[in-house]
Amino acid sequence: MIEYKLAVVGPLDTNCYLVYCSQTLECAVIDPGAEADRIFPLILEFGLKPVYILNTHGHIDHIGANRDVKDKFHIPLGIHPLDDPMLKMVQQFELSFFLGAKESPPADFLFQDGDSITIGKSALRIIHTPGHTPGSVSFLGDRMLFSGDTLFNGGIGRTDLPGGSARDLETSLREKILILPAETIVLPGHGPWTTVGEELESNPFLA
Ligand SMILES: [Fe+2]
Repeated sequence: MIEYKLAVVGPLDTNCYLVYCSQTLECAVIDPGAEADRIFPLILEFGLKPVYILNTHGHIDHIGANRDVKDKFHIPLGIHPLDDPMLKMVQQFELSFFLGAKESPPADFLFQDGDSITIGKSALRIIHTPGHTPGSVSFLGDRMLFSGDTLFNGGIGRTDLPGGSARDLETSLREKILILPAETIVLPGHGPWTTVGEELESNPFLA
C-alpha cells in the first residue's frame, strides 16, 4: 500500500510528498522544493527509507532542495526528459535567494509516460501531463494522484510561464486525469488535496 506524509516548504508553500510503501517504508521524495530541514525530520520520525527523488516538473520551487536530499541520502533523481533542461537553467536560480533554493544536481534517470517506478512493494505510474511545463508529469499509485502543478483543488496550472501551453494542459486534464475514477485522491503541488470527482463537479476551470 502507498501512503504519504506531507511537508509544506518554501515561501510558495510547495507540497513535498514523502510517498512510501507501508510494508517496507521505502519512500520517494516528490518535489523537495526548499527547506530540507522540514523534510528530514519527517523522514526520521516515521522511519522512512528514501530511494528516489522525483520531480513533477522543473520549476525552481519544486526542485530547490534536490541538492540537499541527494547529498544526505545519495539516491537517484528522476524527471521527465522535456523538463530535464530546467534543472540546469541558471535564470531560474536568480530567484533562488528569495525561494531558499539551491541549484539541482543533474538527473540520474529520465522517465516516460507509462513507466512504473517501484517503491518497496508498491509502484508509482508516470502519467505525462504537459501544459504547465512541457515535461510535467503526475504520479499515480493506489488511487492517489500526485498532480504537481497540473490540477489543484479548485484550480488548474498556470500556462503563462515559458514552455507553458493552455491547449496541452486542457488535453492533459481531459484525456489523462479526468478519466481516472472519481474517487481518485488528487494531491497537488500546492494547496489542499481533493478528488477527481469533486473537481469535475466544482472546479470552475473545468466547466
Ligand atoms: Fe510550477
